[in-house]
This record gives sequence, structure tokens and C-alpha cells, in this order.
Amino acid sequence: MDQVDDGKLRGIILDRIGQRGPIPFADFMAACLYEPGLGYYTSPGRKVGAEGDFYTSINVHRVFGRLIAREICRMWEEMGCPASFDIVEAGAGHGQLATDVLDAVCELNSQLYEGVRLTLVEAEPSLAEVQGKLLERHLAKVSWSAPADLAEGKLRFSGCLYSNELIDSFPTHLVEMTPEGLREVFVAAEGDQFSEVLDSPSTPELEAYLSRLGITLNPGQRTEINLNAVRWLESAAASLERGFILTIDYGYLAPELYGPMRLNGTLLCYYRHTTEENPYIRVGLQDITTHVDFTTLALRGEELGLSKVWYGEQYRFLMAAGMMQELMALEAAAKTEKEQIAIRISLKKLILPEGGMGDTFKVLIQAKGVDHPQLLCMRDWGKLI
Ligand SMILES: C[S@@+](CC[C@H](N)C(=O)[O-])C[C@H]1O[C@@H](n2cnc3c(N)ncnc32)[C@H](O)[C@@H]1O
Repeated sequence: MDQVDDGKLRGIILDRIGQRGPIPFADFMAACLYEPGLGYYTSPGRKVGAEGDFYTSINVHRVFGRLIAREICRMWEEMGCPASFDIVEAGAGHGQLATDVLDAVCELNSQLYEGVRLTLVEAEPSLAEVQGKLLERHLAKVSWSAPADLAEGKLRFSGCLYSNELIDSFPTHLVEMTPEGLREVFVAAEGDQFSEVLDSPSTPELEAYLSRLGITLNPGQRTEINLNAVRWLESAAASLERGFILTIDYGYLAPELYGPMRLNGTLLCYYRHTTEENPYIRVGLQDITTHVDFTTLALRGEELGLSKVWYGEQYRFLMAAGMMQELMALEAAAKTEKEQIAIRISLKKLILPEGGMGDTFKVLIQAKGVDHPQLLCMRDWGKLI
């Protein structure tokens, strides 16, 4: 293991525990990822891509953004081709996906592009500069909003809010089933090291979350509960006047996520393209993630007036959105056979299950105020080309 200095943030969290006593794992994870200036996502340094700790679909090929753009064009049509249309990206990172999406909208649909407004919502405000540079040719259409604007209902929009790998980065509570019932994992301090203690849940929402799903964990089973995902969806649903929420992330439906085969949950850390199960090392220097519970997003969405339009694997979404047409166009434009092979290898990564992103990643599309939309992802595979 690399020797890295995580001392400052480690010290801050240890002090916090010294003052308050053991803290819920969710608070520990929030500090590791988002402590101002020191958290994984709130400190300088490239996180995503070859020089970072992990790749997302965005780094694989700009076709990913083009296919999202194709679906957004269809959403616009299903909404009756409104004169103005908001595209909102939450968790926009460096702005590459937003750039790919807007480039494609500009090329594919000049009428939509004319009335489009792009809003970027990102927890780390310093990324606005690099986002602005990438989006230079579209700047007249771009604005920025803080996550708090969404949470506090200050952002209102009509169109499509999308995110890629946002919800997996929200701090989650950890729970474990014991002979005494459901217990929560709290982070305690032993000298300059962290340790875990199990105690009664810090909020009744944790038991309520599992019971509304009809899930009873097996003895000894540990899992994550992402209350922040629910809160985020509540804000997003309230802010959306009419249109769609498109969520792409790794995750499962609840029976698979919380099933007995997943005895230790899905929490995983990433550091320089390797995975690590211990969240108590490289504090603030490694990413910590958990898989998304898409059942709860869909169920809570229905209660909030968001109807579930489509849920499925990323490969199905991308194929139905026009992956083959994109591949053929790219191959036709390639100058050499080597270039063609490189394109095929990249695009395969987006759809292949093993070692690729095709079925680990899921897509959930929810709609508000749009009746029975016919989206590209719902197309019959037999009629795709
Ligand atoms: C795993 S990265 C994904 C970045 C990009 N979407 C991609 O796929 O490469 C998650 C991003 O979401 C941001 N983030 C976390 N919570 C957020 C929130 N509530 N609102 C907006 N952005 C958030 C993080 O700062 C980080 O840039």
C-alpha cells in the first residue's frame, strides 16, 4: 500500500469524535468525501480518468454523451417541442459529459439547441472554471447552481435532469443485523485509529427504509442505507416542473441489493484504479462508494409524482438510443483500420457485462407531467437499425 498523508482530515474527524462521541458512518463518509478543502471530492487533484482513481463511462467515449443527447431530443419531442428546455446535470464533475451532450444537441437538433439552457450542479464549486473552459462554445446557454439551491427549492426547471455516478457518491448509513435487532455502525476513535461500534440507529428512518421494502436482513448481514439519495430525489422532484429525471449509476433493485448473498453490502473504495474495502485508510484520499437502491428511487418517485418510465441496464439504454448508428458513423469517419478497432474497443466497454459497464450500470428514467412518453430506450430491438 502507498504511504500517503491523510493526517489533517484524519485529525479533524478524530477530534470530532473526541468531542461528540462515536459518529454515524454516514457522517464519517461525508467528511471523507466532502469536508471543505480536504475531502476526496472537495480537495484539488484529478479524481476521474487515467490520472485519477477510476474511470466513468464519460471517459470511455464521447458517444456516451451523444446517446444521452439523442434521448434528450426524444424527451423534448414527447413534451411537445417546447420553445425553452432545461438540461440540468447534477454531479457534473469536470463538465465533459455536459459538453458532449450539448455538442450533440447542437448537431442533432438546432430547434432544441436554440431554446436550451444548461445548468450544472456540482458539490465542488472550483470545478466551474474547468467546466466553463470545456463548454466555451456554449457559454451563453450555461449557468451554475449549488447543490443547496436544489435542496432548498431555489432551482426550478422544465426539461431533463440527468446524472451519471452521482448517487453512489452520497454518504450512506451502515447497518448490521444482530441478535438484538437492527444496529447502526458508528465510527469511534482508538488513539489515532478509527474503530467501529454498533449501537441503536441514530434515526428511525433506517428501520423504516428496510421495512417499507419488506426487507429483513439475515443475522450478521451488513448493508448501506442511502437516505441522502431519497432526500436528493425529493428535492429534484420538487424542482422539476415538467419533464424527466434520468439517473445512471451502478446498483440493483432492492431484493438483489439487500439479498442474503450480499452479506457485507456493497461499500467499496477506489484509489489509483484499485479497489479497497477498508474506508478507514487514506482518509480523504480514496473514493468511497456504495451501489444504488433503484427500487427505493422508483417507489419514492411515484409518491412524489414521478412516474417510472423505464429502468434497465446501461447496455440496453445505449443500444436502443442508437449505439449501432453511432458506431457505424464513427467507423465510416475513421481514417485507418487501427482507428476503427480502437473505436470498437471503446464502445464495447460501455455495453459489455464482464469487465465493462454494460450491466453493472443501470438507467432509471422518471417523468413528471408527461403522459406515456415513448422514449428511444423503449424501442423494439428488432427495429433498431
Ligand atoms: C463519482 S463523481 C462523478 C462525476 C461525473 N458525473 C462522472 O460521471 O464522471 C460524483 C460527482 O458528484 C459530485 N456531487 C456529490 N454530491 C453532489 C450533490 N449533492 N450535488 C451535485 N454534485 C454532487 C461530486 O463532487 C463529484 O464531482
